[in-house]
Amino acid sequence: MAGLIPKSFIHDLLERADIVEVVDSRVPLKKAGKNHQACCPFHNEKSPSFTVSQDKQFYHCFGCGAHGNAIDFLMEFDGLQFPDAVEELAGLFGVQVPREEPENPQAAQKKQQQTQDDVAIMNQAARFYQHQLKHHASSEQVIGYLKKRGLSGETVKRFQIGYAPDDWDSLLKTFGQGAKQRQQLLELKLINRNDKGRHYDFFRDRVMFPIHDRRGRVVGFGGRIIEGDGPKYLNSPETRLFHKGSELYGYWHMQQAVRRPDQVVVVEGYMDVVALSQAGIDYAVASLGTATTTEQLQRLFRTSPRVVCCYDGDRAGRDAAWRALENALPLLKDGLDMAFLFLPEGEDPDSVVRDKGKEAFEQALTQAKPFTEYFFEHLQEGIDVSTDAGRSQLLSTAKPLIEKIASGYYQSALLEKLTRQFGFLPEQVEKSYFSRSSGNGNKYQSQEKSRLGVVERATAILIQKPSLALDYYVSSEINNLKLKDIKIFTAVYRQCSKRELNTAQVLEGWRESSRFELIKELSTRELHLEDEHFSKEFEGILLYLTDMCIEQKANSILEEINKGNASKELLEEYQSLLALKKKQQPK
Ligand code: UTP
Ligand code: MN
Repeated sequence: MAGLIPKSFIHDLLERADIVEVVDSRVPLKKAGKNHQACCPFHNEKSPSFTVSQDKQFYHCFGCGAHGNAIDFLMEFDGLQFPDAVEELAGLFGVQVPREEPENPQAAQKKQQQTQDDVAIMNQAARFYQHQLKHHASSEQVIGYLKKRGLSGETVKRFQIGYAPDDWDSLLKTFGQGAKQRQQLLELKLINRNDKGRHYDFFRDRVMFPIHDRRGRVVGFGGRIIEGDGPKYLNSPETRLFHKGSELYGYWHMQQAVRRPDQVVVVEGYMDVVALSQAGIDYAVASLGTATTTEQLQRLFRTSPRVVCCYDGDRAGRDAAWRALENALPLLKDGLDMAFLFLPEGEDPDSVVRDKGKEAFEQALTQAKPFTEYFFEHLQEGIDVSTDAGRSQLLSTAKPLIEKIASGYYQSALLEKLTRQFGFLPEQVEKSYFSRSSGNGNKYQSQEKSRLGVVERATAILIQKPSLALDYYVSSEINNLKLKDIKIFTAVYRQCSKRELNTAQVLEGWRESSRFELIKELSTRELHLEDEHFSKEFEGILLYLTDMCIEQKANSILEEINKGNASKELLEEYQSLLALKKKQQPK
């Protein structure tokens, strides 16, 4: 397996690359003042809100919130994984991407070989099932079933739908000659082994739906019973190749048809995806299992700004929808949209599109419940909001959920709805909103909140103008301040004070950190500062933080003095701090 790409190489690459050129080669840009602009390639728009800054080597869309450096752009636009995006960028300069030696080259090599073999056997199995659909003795009957369900030959072929014969060993006989092969089939869950050690096919007498990963490799199967007893669908269990929570049925097919759909519909079943696609709705995917995971939703929101969850109106469907909503909260940024469509009892997207057609289904999609509406509708279930008890219950369940949302827009929309629709006073909503876990008085909280803003703001200023770190000295004492995210500020400072960096390079240093999202968000935060005012404000904040340091230290010394531990040195230290503090106060 290829080793890691050295950080220093990525750093140099970002220094050489010009994001304006990179973006312009894919999305033609127009100069607008200091920046370049275009209509955003990541969402649909008529007037350009996508800007590329040459200074910062950074792009940002004010419409959908997409942002990042040249590597991010290639990842998003070309749909590449990180190492491939680096390869692509390096390719522009004709340079080879160096790789660090993996820690255990032999093990890495073996793992890569195994993945290749696994993928090969899964693809062969899919072809085997496809072949059986055409040539097996039951072929006519199975094809009859698919026809009865309205599938065309073209659709069956496109989704590589097949048939697992009604034998105990048809796949086993074909692929499991040696012990080693049998072991592999077992590990990929294509065959089972009984107590007596006998092997047999996992899927028997079922219509087979291969599940593709985002690169189009078959990683698992869903098999539908045709008639008789047993579970309606049998799915591949988790294997080293197949992880249900990260795959989406139909995603690869959707990407083949449209890279950036205006919306994506999440449905429950294999047949729903296939039937919708046949009807010309090629932007549907199914989550494999009941709930849609955060990982799946993240992929969808990177593909499209609107996700519509379309579920059955029954209990299971409603539960699945609510869990999808909960999983989406931290992903919901400004410019993204989520909606919910519940179909009438006994209907599913497959039946709707077959009975009523494409237009009717698309019409229904436009009527999907907006996120904010569904949010309160669900929370109110079983609560009597005309009573104080009910209302306070509503407030206390809504609050922590609202706090999880990434978007300021949705947060304020929901808070406003609380006041307007449910008659809460603005201060009730506010108070509950900011009281978090610490039960201290309001004064402390609002003070805490504004201080918190200061650290974030200083960090944002520094990320957007990293050269300030070369102009200002930040004492390491600041690191000890008891302020949220102060360690992030000092870390960014240390990063920027070593050498001259642009914003894109600063970001790159945080890609693997759990705080990457925060850093990215700060890099695009609108600070309402003229260029020449960055350093003035930065200086102001530094003075303020230094002042806090002094105060903190003075308090701890005072404590010692009060405890009776006042040495002469301590007293002197205290005196000099007081003097220093006086000096810093504005005249
Ligand atoms: P449904 O019962 O709604 O079936 O299950 P469906 O998709 O409409 O299938 P058809 O139209 O009867 O063929 C929805 C999804 O739930 C999973 C499958 O992924 C299925 O597509 N499921 C359902 C199972 O995994 N096992 C089952 O036994 C049933
Ligand atoms: Mn169905």
